[in-house]
Amino acid sequence: MKVGIVGAGMVGSAAGYALALTGTVSRVVLVDQNAALAQAQAEDIAHAVPFASSTIVEHGDYPALAGAGVVILAAGVGQKPGETRLELLSRNAAVFRDVTARVLDHAPDAILLVASNPVDVMTQITTRLTGLPAERVIGSGTILDTARFRSLLGRHFDISPRSVHAYVLGEHGDSEVLAWSSARAGSVPLMSFAAQVGSPITENVRAQIDDGVRNAAYTIINGKGATWYGIGAGLARIVRAIVQDEQAVLSVSIATDEVLGVKDVALSLPRIVGAAGVRTDLMPDLTDDEARALKESATLLQSTADAVEL
Ligand code: LAC
Repeated sequence: MKVGIVGAGMVGSAAGYALALTGTVSRVVLVDQNAALAQAQAEDIAHAVPFASSTIVEHGDYPALAGAGVVILAAGVGQKPGETRLELLSRNAAVFRDVTARVLDHAPDAILLVASNPVDVMTQITTRLTGLPAERVIGSGTILDTARFRSLLGRHFDISPRSVHAYVLGEHGDSEVLAWSSARAGSVPLMSFAAQVGSPITENVRAQIDDGVRNAAYTIINGKGATWYGIGAGLARIVRAIVQDEQAVLSVSIATDEVLGVKDVALSLPRIVGAAGVRTDLMPDLTDDEARALKESATLLQSTADAVEL
């Protein structure tokens, strides 16, 4: 499969690098308004390919997207130190008005994978701008937050994060909800696992992990100006589920008719992802507090998206 990436900045190129190194797809095409940047990123990534795969990595303009099965939308601006993701909305919405039309001109059958922040609102906007079915406009959503959650729990328990099953729901942002009550390690509910391995999750540990997940981007941005490796790998993971028709459960964002009484909103829930995009939304069992927080997140995202003039 050919995958297009519009936006050859750090996030888009990291996704291209992850796709190339894993050999997930046969061809990656980088598109950017700065053609020299797209060319340089493509050539640099192509020089890594012989160590790992046979993926063809190239650059081009929008016509080069023809035949792409997935197009990653990573164009726009990223957070500056201290800036929230929601504060990027007006600038990135303006970029997407142009980008989405040009992508569909050349890849009308592609699944769109939205990476630009605020990713949930950008996913809602892209769905509205393109008129595509919601299941074919997927936002990376909280796939990265879920990875961060699992990574910090794995570190606490000294186990592989791949043996931790825990999800972050709602906004990819400050209002996100860590679903502690349904988290498990192996097949064991989290608190029982913690007791069995002698690594209790005290209130202090819980607060540290929540902070580590919720504020990871701010910390990384303060240190190096942006994040890209985590989100790049997360985007490649979603592409793999599509390309291989995995029907994998991933916490991704799509425009949803109603979540906990909040109508017409895009946010992350665990969802089954395969060749046709998202097949099914899943609603984990939530405590009253978790449900309340998720409804607050949904309400924030809905009001933010509704305020955007397309
Ligand atoms: C982050 C960016 C991708 O959370 O929003 O790292």
